[in-house]
Amino acid sequence: MKRLLKIAGIVISVLFLIFLLFVGYMNWGPFPTYENKAPEITYTFDSLEVEEGARIATMACAGCHLSSDGKFGGMYMKDNDSFGKIYAPNITKHPTKGKLAQYSDGELVYLFRTGIMKNGQYAPPWMPKYPHMSDKDIKRLVAFLRSDHPFVQPSENTTPPIEYNFMAKALVKMKVFSPLEYPAKKIPHPDLNNEVELGKYLSTAVYDCYGCHSPDFKTVDVMQPEKTPGYFSGGNPFLDDEGNPILTPNLTFDEKTGIGTWTKEQFVKNVKYGIKPDGSGSNRYPMPPFSLLSDKEAGAIYEYLKTIPKIENEVNRNIQAEM
Ligand code: HEC
Ligand code: HEC
Repeated sequence: MKRLLKIAGIVISVLFLIFLLFVGYMNWGPFPTYENKAPEITYTFDSLEVEEGARIATMACAGCHLSSDGKFGGMYMKDNDSFGKIYAPNITKHPTKGKLAQYSDGELVYLFRTGIMKNGQYAPPWMPKYPHMSDKDIKRLVAFLRSDHPFVQPSENTTPPIEYNFMAKALVKMKVFSPLEYPAKKIPHPDLNNEVELGKYLSTAVYDCYGCHSPDFKTVDVMQPEKTPGYFSGGNPFLDDEGNPILTPNLTFDEKTGIGTWTKEQFVKNVKYGIKPDGSGSNRYPMPPFSLLSDKEAGAIYEYLKTIPKIENEVNRNIQAEM
């Protein structure tokens, strides 16, 4: 009996030691780095490509990277408090404070596709990845970043280093957050005359409507967006401008709980300018106004949403009132 107790004691001590080592490693150990296999690409581009790239970046990047000086000098991301203190960095052309100068065109493409940064580390979920964006639009983004556009002119703004909390560190180190494969094939641009195809492309590959409008970022299927559980049925929690909880609405065409009764005109007006169908007020943060989408593009998203499975999911649109 004594012997048994002794063995049990040793086993427990060893397990405890392993546990301590694990916790220590997760907290203080190095972050994994990944081999940078960026393709050799040096683009030449025209002003139209810069213009299109700027239009995409204004809607897809500014929300996180635009600082108060009107440039992509970076900012604090208050929505991500559950992961620690997360900052979107300065990605202007500033020679020391900006990140752009370090990157070749190919390395930018590699980052957008896989999430692997210049320093070999993986940029976790809050920096979006673009595995399905067409090669054409990826090139337009790089064209914009290299251009004379005011957003990317040197910004003096600096952001402190990101401070992950224990959970985020563990998720990165256990490689739950890990890079995507670099695409093996060219990714064609959608057929602009096919509304459904264009709408799917814009709402999944470029603007991440589906990520915010599905129930949970943790269950988003980045490689196969349409396989995301509860695809477009809403309920993803955020904080609004004042730090109050807000859930994303259901954008499936369920008549009762989704947008099944909305007309195309109402949808286009809402997505571009935030105006509600009955004219009462406007969309709250963090729903960005997509005012730079053309009516055709916003309408295409409507046509696409019409084709996806309707999901009955009643989202409480006014949770703070009950807290
Ligand atoms: C939801 C917020 C968010 C959006 C949207 C976003 N970013 Fe980021 N971005 C980040 C964060 C946070 C990091 C830092 C990641 C890290 O260091 O772990 C980052 C990192 C980067 C870096 C790498 C900098 C470095 O340290 O090497 C570049 C370049 C970049 N973003 C460009 C873009 C572009 C271009 C877009 C739009 C197409 C974009 N980002 C959209 C949050 C965002
Ligand atoms: C950062 C997360 C986020 C992204 C990205 C986002 N939305 Fe939203 N969206 C929201 C939130 C939150 C609301 C609710 C606003 C409110 O209740 O005032 C909303 C509201 C809406 C509404 C109004 C629905 C209703 O029932 O009132 C529509 C339509 C909509 N979004 C469409 C889109 C489309 C299309 C895209 C992509 C082009 C998109 N959203 C991208 C978070 C997001």
